[in-house]
Amino acid sequence: MSEGLIRRSVLTGVGHYLPEKITSNAEMALRVDTSDDWITERTGIKQRHFAGSHETAAFMGAAAAREALAKAGVDPLAVNAIILATSTPDQAFPATAVHVQAAIGAHNAFGFDLAAACSGFIYGLSVADGLIRAGQADNILVIGSEVYSRILNFEDRGTCVLFGDGAAAVLLQARDVAPGSKGVLSTHLHSDGRLADMLYVDGAVGQPEKSGKLVMNGREVFRHAVTLLSSAVNEALTANGLTNKDIDWLVPHQANRRIIDSVGKKLGLTEAQVVVTVDQHANTSAASIPLALYQAMSDGRILPGQLVLLEALGGGLTWGSALIRL
Ligand code: UT7
Repeated sequence: MSEGLIRRSVLTGVGHYLPEKITSNAEMALRVDTSDDWITERTGIKQRHFAGSHETAAFMGAAAAREALAKAGVDPLAVNAIILATSTPDQAFPATAVHVQAAIGAHNAFGFDLAAACSGFIYGLSVADGLIRAGQADNILVIGSEVYSRILNFEDRGTCVLFGDGAAAVLLQARDVAPGSKGVLSTHLHSDGRLADMLYVDGAVGQPEKSGKLVMNGREVFRHAVTLLSSAVNEALTANGLTNKDIDWLVPHQANRRIIDSVGKKLGLTEAQVVVTVDQHANTSAASIPLALYQAMSDGRILPGQLVLLEALGGGLTWGSALIRL
């Protein structure tokens, strides 16, 4: 390594997949007692994508991964690891990540799934960054892929209008760079299992007698989200000796426009600096941050060299933040 350079994880490609079927708020109002006005005003959501039967977490994750590799110009055989964050895997095992591995032909990689609900992408980024910094891998796909429509209770208007399906992936590659000049600067992870009953799925293969549907105390999650996310973003800035003035973009988890706006405002960012996709995708859990990143990188808003702050909170509760210089 040249003098003064350090090994870091640099984001070199991003890809996505959204199911073909789009469902508007008006269509949701035909299923439950709700309205476009209520959903828009309380959440900012206008529509969501719902997966067809063939659009599983593996199918969508593979499509997103292929695009990320193509954008980076990297052969699938050069991938060392696939970390797939999901709460809606194709099967209890094998991991959805290995189905993606087979589908994209990344036969030299190892793969595993990561369960951290809506914080899954930040957790995945953190694990991948650790593997790269430690020299255990050079090229890692971090994927968020979710089909929440399979675990939604379509009789509960308090939750079914909030979520959607989709996937996105990033490729992280080891590069020797000047400190702070490029790559994942730091990641910050938290969880508090005492708050597990605030947002959960009431069943799984280990509890087959339960329905396996999502349950949420939205008001309580909302209350915790604003406080915990603000503290996580400050933690990321402090760890790097940076201030809010240094941030070019906030790419937050997309659960609720009011939470997004509130964190952006506390950080002193302008509305234009905050990437919002919740209106189009609703909450796609572990896929929401990379989907937003994909959108803002593809439309030319986020540029090389800029500093991007990521944050998320979800079931667990889990929460965290990450700072990346692109
Ligand atoms: O990604 C994981 C993290 N998840 C989140 O961050 C979600 C956090 N929570 C939220 O986004 C918000 O709490 C919600 C959007 C879920 C709810 O918004 P709210 O402003 O907290 O509403 P609320 O739960 O206090 O409910 C207000 C009213 C209630 O009626 P009453 O009791 O005041 O008569 C609800 O029954 O709105 C009613 N309501 C609805 N009305 C029409 C709840 N859902 C609906 C609906 N349509 N879909």
